[in-house]
Amino acid sequence: MAELQWRGKTRDQPERESREEALARLCTSEILPALSLPTPESAWHNRLIRGERQDVLTALLPEFAGQINLIYIDPPFMTGRDFKQGTHLAYSDKWQGDLDAYLQWLATTLHLLYQLLADDGSLYVHLDWRVTHYTRVMLDEIFRSSERGQGGFQNEIIWHYQSGGRGSQRYARKHDTILFYTKSAHYCFHGERIGEKRGTHKRNHMRKQENEHGQITWSINSHGRTYTYSSESRMTPSDVWSDISHLHQRDPERNGYATQKPAALIERLLLASSEPQQLVLDCFCGSGVTPVVAEQLGRRWIAADQGELAIATTRARLLALPQYSPFISQTCVAAPGR
Ligand SMILES: C[S@@+](CC[C@H](N)C(=O)[O-])C[C@H]1O[C@@H](n2cnc3c(N)ncnc32)[C@H](O)[C@@H]1O
Repeated sequence: MAELQWRGKTRDQPERESREEALARLCTSEILPALSLPTPESAWHNRLIRGERQDVLTALLPEFAGQINLIYIDPPFMTGRDFKQGTHLAYSDKWQGDLDAYLQWLATTLHLLYQLLADDGSLYVHLDWRVTHYTRVMLDEIFRSSERGQGGFQNEIIWHYQSGGRGSQRYARKHDTILFYTKSAHYCFHGERIGEKRGTHKRNHMRKQENEHGQITWSINSHGRTYTYSSESRMTPSDVWSDISHLHQRDPERNGYATQKPAALIERLLLASSEPQQLVLDCFCGSGVTPVVAEQLGRRWIAADQGELAIATTRARLLALPQYSPFISQTCVAAPGR
């Protein structure tokens, strides 16, 4: 089995804390809406946590190991840039050019996320040309035990967009990659919720038939069987997505946070890979797109980010929703020895 090596690679994992120790590091500063204290009937509150990802994920482990149904992360891509909002630094993605340091940082994150993921859960990792290839090998190693039960790698989704310029030295880089991994073969996936209708226009080698009521079906023979589909049925989408636009400068959805992703992209992932009331985690929530979409789709959520601006933007976005489920704002204190 191929394995990725880098200088200083270690599989050492942060020590597990007791539930009490971990809970003591999560300091609640606010419950929203005010006075919505947990009751025995509705003990769950969504969580918005300010903290560094290792501190947050280790603090969540005693309570949520094996409990998260869907994880989406859009971490720093190792762009070598600072991302600003006006003069305010949103976050730095510089790493002093040290790829080894970045890979160890990402590997530690992915190991922790693997432990939090439910046995039937899904992980989506959003990156681009800079580190996707390393990350895929890394994820294959982390999910190796899952592969035997046909979990592990499921898809490399290409999100193709048109924004940005085009240089003359090479083909224009116009896509991000979202790696999709599962812990087992038994995971939630609803291609029919997000697919296009098959429709009435010919698009491949399928045979078109129309009955006396004008209803159209499409059929194809394969391995001695005939498969027939109504024109109203939905096709599982392919792994290349060109129908979701990048957020343009003047897009009404934009809230000013650099690297904000479109809600339609996250909505597609959540609809396909989670059920209402299931638990969604994003530990690099940035402008808050994941918790907002989770809220709108009736999923429970935990969102975290180390940046003050990210937490303020996410909070404001949630409070601007016409309706939102109660959530608590927490600050995560560094784990001992960090
Ligand atoms: C690419 S942005 C996420 C954008 C987000 N998906 C959105 O649509 O707005 C990456 C985020 O990771 C956060 N971040 C970077 N390093 C972090 C760390 N070590 N722990 C927690 N958050 C971190 C940054 O503050 C930034 O908000």
